[in-house]
Amino acid sequence: MANNKKFYVTTPIYYPNDIPHIGHAYTTLAADVLARWFKLKGYDVFFLTGTDDHGKKIVQAAEKAGKKPKEFVDELIPKFKDAWRKLNIEYDKFIRTTDKSHEKVVKEILQKVYDKGDIYKGEYEGYYCVGCEAYYTEKDLINGCCPIHKTKIERLKEESYFFKLSKYRNQLLELYSKHPEFISPKHRRQEIINRVKEELRDLSISRTSFDWGVQLPFDKKHVSYVWFDALFNYYSATREKGKEKYWPADVHLIGKDILWFHTVYWPAFLLSAGISLPKIVFAHGWWTFDKEKISKSRGKVVNVDELIAIAGVDSARYFLFREGVFGEDGDFSEDVLIERNNTELANKLGNLVSRVSNLAEKYGIEKCGNNLIKKLNLKKIEKYFEDFELDKALNEIFAFIDLCNEYVQKTQPWKEENKDKKKILYELSDSIKAIAILLFPFIPETSEKIAKVFGFKIDWKEINKPLKIGKIKKAEILFKKVEKTNKRT
Ligand code: MSP
Repeated sequence: MANNKKFYVTTPIYYPNDIPHIGHAYTTLAADVLARWFKLKGYDVFFLTGTDDHGKKIVQAAEKAGKKPKEFVDELIPKFKDAWRKLNIEYDKFIRTTDKSHEKVVKEILQKVYDKGDIYKGEYEGYYCVGCEAYYTEKDLINGCCPIHKTKIERLKEESYFFKLSKYRNQLLELYSKHPEFISPKHRRQEIINRVKEELRDLSISRTSFDWGVQLPFDKKHVSYVWFDALFNYYSATREKGKEKYWPADVHLIGKDILWFHTVYWPAFLLSAGISLPKIVFAHGWWTFDKEKISKSRGKVVNVDELIAIAGVDSARYFLFREGVFGEDGDFSEDVLIERNNTELANKLGNLVSRVSNLAEKYGIEKCGNNLIKKLNLKKIEKYFEDFELDKALNEIFAFIDLCNEYVQKTQPWKEENKDKKKILYELSDSIKAIAILLFPFIPETSEKIAKVFGFKIDWKEINKPLKIGKIKKAEILFKKVEKTNKRT
């Protein structure tokens, strides 16, 4: 281990009410990219993902399927695990809110917060959107409908326990001003701050109309509000022996729609429970599909299998982080994915590796100083990764790939009369080593293939070490070109 720094990254825990789609895959892949990067850099990494098994949304989906909630979610969990495996996502732990160990932690915390006097009994009267699993006030609604789902919203009146959220208003504002990075990227900060400044009401944190949830330890008639239960997954996962060292989380990766829950409720719950706060909540944007909102009913949804089927796993992984600016909205289009696969992965990266390995097999390579690699700005790329600017990291790496291709064209190492060809091929092979190591978080399978051809290990220590001379054999085709189909409309 290069150092003993740790990096704890999480994804939202997904509602297992359907199979995962591109939106879920995106956050989980982003966490995988970061986990792989920090592991490469010698950090002790803990990467957590999982499912949010409780709540009314699940009760309703299970009812529709004619199943009991537990039976219903149990059948969907393997679909999530399967999807992550197919996408080559290597998480360290998959948590479910129905795990006994998680429920135990939630109960302990509820009791602690109750004993402290931060939970009181009252009556909730207002609106609740099951799709969002969120409470709304009259003024939030648009024509009586949920502002997000645009569906009719249920009016609730029931006995409920409330969390004294309003008590934490000043502490929250102080957190945002002392640790601005807590709400990232920065353009999402002000909206949260304004809303908190405007009004922060106490939060209803229990329900009595159904029992699919964690029972309140101080009143068995109530189950916990699904978000109280769910948010604590990030903490309960670190209560296992040996995992305590990972808390607090270094970054919670989430979609922009759930930023409020993570930057207001979550730190307030933790402050009340006397638990240290996570460092960064990073909200990415939303993917649309051919410029339209992703929607199952309109067939505008890309499932993980469909995503992979277009041009393979690494092309999908690459596309998602090259096409969209991480933190902004992005548009998914099968044609653009194919275009990027063909021009950037097959033509630029694939051809470079294929040409250089072919010539190196034919002529051999000869050790020399590498002037080409001096043009690779490693420090800049490292900074991009550390700041989660994943699109910029990819741009920079691909700018270097362009330089390598230009170098091949300019120096023409295939010409018999070129006396320097073995040295040129060495410089190129050594540069490809750096490229493959840097691309590993994004396209791990391809990087491993390249490493095998040129005889190096995917290891950060190798990046500055000159490539060892060994036998190089022409690489197999890394990316096949795919024809555009225009079949999805
Ligand atoms: N269960 C809650 C999260 C609890 S975390 C303590 C939840 N689940 S979800 O399954 O509805 O959504 C999970 C994530 O998927 C959210 O971060 C959401 O932003 C993301 N996405 C859903 N559709 C998306 C797109 N179309 N594009 C990008 N991400 C999207 O919310």
